[in-house]
Amino acid sequence: MTEPVVIAIDGPSGAGKGAVTQHLAQRTGFQVLDSGALYRLTGFAARLDGLELSDAPSVAAVARGLNVRFVPAQSGHEPFEVMLRGVDVTDSIRTDQAGVDASTVAALPMVRAALGDRQQAFRQAPGLIADGRDMGTVVFKDALVKIFLTASAEIRAERRYNQLKNKDMDVSLAALLESIQARDARDSNRAVAPLKPAEDAVVIDSSGMPLEAVHEAIWAVVSKVVT
Ligand code: DC
Repeated sequence: MTEPVVIAIDGPSGAGKGAVTQHLAQRTGFQVLDSGALYRLTGFAARLDGLELSDAPSVAAVARGLNVRFVPAQSGHEPFEVMLRGVDVTDSIRTDQAGVDASTVAALPMVRAALGDRQQAFRQAPGLIADGRDMGTVVFKDALVKIFLTASAEIRAERRYNQLKNKDMDVSLAALLESIQARDARDSNRAVAPLKPAEDAVVIDSSGMPLEAVHEAIWAVVSKVVT
């Protein structure tokens, strides 16, 4: 039996992968995997449990046992409400600190291994749009389409600043830029599954591109192979 097709959308933090993923999901009717949310949930749950984020075996056990549900949202900023252990953590896992914690636990090979099967389970008919850092290079190497969506760190920090402001979160642009640069460095330089374009990825730099133009550029690639 052939497996449902995968469209992999990888790239650094704040490049617009989430918006592109939702847009493609609407156009194709495919399932969605927000793999970053799984790393965010792991870091968040590990902190709730009072763990050191460097304690790989314990954090990996948290990742394996994550009790999480993604519920399609009726309203709000996010497409899904994220329920961890029965509690709504949709906004709590989107803070900058939760992103930093996610990136920290994501550098642990045991944690990446622990989340492997969970990510594969999202591959269901009629197909999957998988958003992350290593979707096309590691998790879904056989993805039908691989997009690497990027943008300059300055532009990504500015977009993130506007998103967080819209959610009434208290943030500084300079601090966000510093945090994005540190996160890029950690995600790109780790030994396992570093952030990099797959050899067969189409690289799109969205700096200076309006969102509509990004959607169309990506649809031009996807629609050639997905009907
Ligand atoms: O996409 P995001 O900002 O929600 O991801 C949060 C962190 O999780 C990111 O800085 C690195 C890590 N991550 C990863 O290592 N591999 C993935 N496939 C997705 C996210």
